[in-house]
Amino acid sequence: MRVQFFGRVWKNLAYTVPKLTDYSAEALGRASAELIAALELETQKLLADDKRAIPSDAEWKLRWEEWKKFRDGWIGRKSGVLTQINELWLKSAPKDAKRAAGQLVNDLRKTVQEEVSRAEATLMRWEGDDQREASEASARSFTTIEEALIAVEGVDITLPGVQRPIGAEHPVIKTMHEIVSVFQKLGYSVAEGPVVETDYYNFEALNFPPNHPARDTQDTLVIAGQQSKPQRERLLLRTHTSPVQIRTMEKMRPPLRIVIPGTVHRNDPPDASHSPMFHQVEGLAVDTNITFGDLKGTLDHAMKALFGSSVKTHFRPSFFPFTEPSAEMYVSCFICGGGGKRGAEPCRPCKQTGWIEILGCGMVDPNVFEFVTDNGYDPKKVSGFAFGMGADRIALLKYGVDDIQLFFQGDVRFLQQWG
Ligand code: PHE
Repeated sequence: MRVQFFGRVWKNLAYTVPKLTDYSAEALGRASAELIAALELETQKLLADDKRAIPSDAEWKLRWEEWKKFRDGWIGRKSGVLTQINELWLKSAPKDAKRAAGQLVNDLRKTVQEEVSRAEATLMRWEGDDQREASEASARSFTTIEEALIAVEGVDITLPGVQRPIGAEHPVIKTMHEIVSVFQKLGYSVAEGPVVETDYYNFEALNFPPNHPARDTQDTLVIAGQQSKPQRERLLLRTHTSPVQIRTMEKMRPPLRIVIPGTVHRNDPPDASHSPMFHQVEGLAVDTNITFGDLKGTLDHAMKALFGSSVKTHFRPSFFPFTEPSAEMYVSCFICGGGGKRGAEPCRPCKQTGWIEILGCGMVDPNVFEFVTDNGYDPKKVSGFAFGMGADRIALLKYGVDDIQLFFQGDVRFLQQWG
């Protein structure tokens, strides 16, 4: 009954699993040999040499159907040969033959599975060969190399390639470059200095008194573990670009005209107008007869070059330890034109005053020259002016950005606007 049932399913398969009554080693060996012989016969039929090259897709479809029957006939879970020998040879074996039958069934399972995989791998390889041959044959009939490549490789090389974004200058760096180039055109050279600076260059040689509040860690970010060093050698993150004034004067004799772009740090919590890291552009001019008039003329020219020829400049007295006299310089508001209003609305960038503070400046304090007299900076013979401006603030104003944090968050959606 059972055999008959299987026989119906196996109509595609030449082999029928016999029922075993004799479990002697000899009988098992014979049954096993018959099964393997049938398996080999099937694979031979499936992989016959004359079936090797069948380049049409339709023929391959048929062949894979044939293959599926073969596979299911041997290893199909429901009624494949492996399932049958498990039922007919192992489960129905008498107790004393179980062991031998189990061993045999296991060995056969391995053999059959391997043979089925081998047949599948062979067919897949042949099919690949056929497809390649077919596409190469059709490529031979193409007129251009491009067409042939598309056919063989499946790649259309005329399509646009993968785009790799190349990035753009950051708005703050762009602003710094603009400022620097205005001064370069006036004959200034570019100087740079270290961001990790000593107390000496950042404060002492700039005439800061020993207990100046800027030296406090409330305001300045200091490098840890410096307490055992003398004050002047202690390392900190420079709070301004002014230390590069001294560093350059140590190296270069007067006359001197330099512009100094760079990053600086202060212990400020970040908000819309503060960042613990920001950027400055410093300037220094030293010669035998530099006056406050030179300072005003130079900066007025620079502001017109940066913000437009109609802006005016305005100087108010201020204080810096390293300049005397000192001033804050304002430009007339280039947003509202100096009127303090935009239509009926109050102008926010200038807080309705019509003026925007841009930089600190002044005549170099003779006490500063005292630190570099050895290199030709005798305060009785030379004079000079210096200025320093925040590049981030200028970039905010120039581009109408309302939050300095946007410059440092690296959000591509923001930065792409300058691409
Ligand atoms: N270093 C000053 C600051 O950071 C600016 C400045 C530079 C002032 C040069 C005068 C001269 O605020």
